[in-house]
Amino acid sequence: MSSPFKDLVLPTMQKKSKESKKKERPGPDDIIWARELIKVYSTGSLEVTALRGVDVTIKKGEIVAIVGPSGCGKTTLLNIFGALDRPTAGRVYVDGKDIRNLTDKELSEFRRKKIGFIFQNFNLINTLTARENIELPMSINGLKSSIIKERTDDLLKAIGLQDRQDHRPDQLSGGEQQRVAFAVALGNDPEIILADEPTGELDSDTGKDIMNIFRELSKQMGKTEVIVTHDARVADMADRSLKILDGNIVSED
Ligand SMILES: Nc1ncnc2c1ncn2[C@@H]1O[C@H](COP(=O)(O)OP(=O)(O)O)[C@@H](O)[C@H]1O
Ligand SMILES: [Mg+2]
Repeated sequence: MSSPFKDLVLPTMQKKSKESKKKERPGPDDIIWARELIKVYSTGSLEVTALRGVDVTIKKGEIVAIVGPSGCGKTTLLNIFGALDRPTAGRVYVDGKDIRNLTDKELSEFRRKKIGFIFQNFNLINTLTARENIELPMSINGLKSSIIKERTDDLLKAIGLQDRQDHRPDQLSGGEQQRVAFAVALGNDPEIILADEPTGELDSDTGKDIMNIFRELSKQMGKTEVIVTHDARVADMADRSLKILDGNIVSED
């Protein structure tokens, strides 16, 4: 029997049926697009379900924060977007590509060219200077040394660390290291920056200052940024926040 209230439900509030989701495709501006993502980790006999059918659409040029308590699945989701991990089920398109169908070799090329990662612990190489850390992914990517030098100069200028370029990470403050990590992520001019708690080890004011720099540069360069964060002030700076609880997106604002 059909409900007398059916016509009162706004179209945006109607849940899409499983069938219509299967036929859905990302639009031209949907740089990250996922439907019904499920991730189950199996360790020995124990299974942990980290994602329980997540739908996400992120538009090119957006800055999106992902928030939620520890263990809710934020890193798992980010790692799937960045092709560091594969979903157990569901569909995921990044920059128009169905990344489930790529071979491991194609995935690593995809990551190198399309994605810039920023990790909580910075992942800088301690024996290299700031300049050398920024240069490394570009030289792995096979860019010409004159171009690498020029880009590194520009990036050091953009993060305001030209005068510290010959310092190693342990000679820089946490905030300075984070700025270098951001420049490292931008080296190969990726479409997408994925940051996992990028301000997690910084005091709140430094974290906020750095997020302002990230935001400014991302917008200028037209990058899409997805930032996992615990810090409400960081989330406030995003265009949009997605809240995750126990493997599901529960709200958006
Ligand atoms: N490699 C793994 N093997 C087994 N379980 C994992 C693994 N990675 C994450 N998990 C589990 O999946 C859930 C979600 O983890 P995660 O995505 O890291 O959460 P968050 O980043 O929100 O803290 C947690 O219960 C965590 O213990
Ligand atoms: Mg995490």
